[in-house]
Amino acid sequence: MRTYIDSAFVDEVREADELGLVDGVTTNPSLVSSTDREYRDIIDELDEFVEGPISVEVIATDYEDMLEEAREYDTWGDNIAVKLPMTRDGMRALRTLYDEGIQTNITLVFSVNQALIAAKNGATMVSPFIGRLDDNGHDGVGLIEDIRTVYDNYGFETDILAASIRNPRHVQEVAKAGSDIATLPPEVADSMFDHPRTDGGLEAFLDDWGDRESPALK
Ligand code: E4P
Repeated sequence: MRTYIDSAFVDEVREADELGLVDGVTTNPSLVSSTDREYRDIIDELDEFVEGPISVEVIATDYEDMLEEAREYDTWGDNIAVKLPMTRDGMRALRTLYDEGIQTNITLVFSVNQALIAAKNGATMVSPFIGRLDDNGHDGVGLIEDIRTVYDNYGFETDILAASIRNPRHVQEVAKAGSDIATLPPEVADSMFDHPRTDGGLEAFLDDWGDRESPALK
């Protein structure tokens, strides 16, 4: 499973990149607003080292303005994926952008039917928000499983990008469910490294070794 970082803070993405977790990046208006920086400046900096897709979200909600924004965003880098909302205008814009060869990520997906519509219209990626579903008493991971089944049944090539990930358990569950990608908040990416038995095991090995030097470093 590919892992993206869900952040508009460039330093956080760079740190995760050094640990091998950055196959792409997702941003959204809330994340960008939390930085007090210009959207374009953030994307320019990410574009210097991120090799995979960088999702940039439209602010417009009507078809014509979405297209204008999307075409502009597409000039911001070599691997921009335009994030469009799962709305009727969003789907019309998706069809046009598909014909123009522009990568897309359909956001705010909460049902199998929405994921089906996005795939039929040629989405590059579809983003089911699993944490927000869980927050409302629904089954986020179950939605990933169901979309996987439908996409496999009909051979859709749209990638499933599990979004709104809240904890490390979510990551392993969506990986088991066959998600193509998970976009990780930096704190979740960091927590994936940890296990108390790893720390305890290392401490015991080093205690047993004592004060002696490593034979390789003598
Ligand atoms: C990513 O593309 C989404 O915008 C993001 O994962 C949403 O996460 P949230 O539900 O924690 O805001």
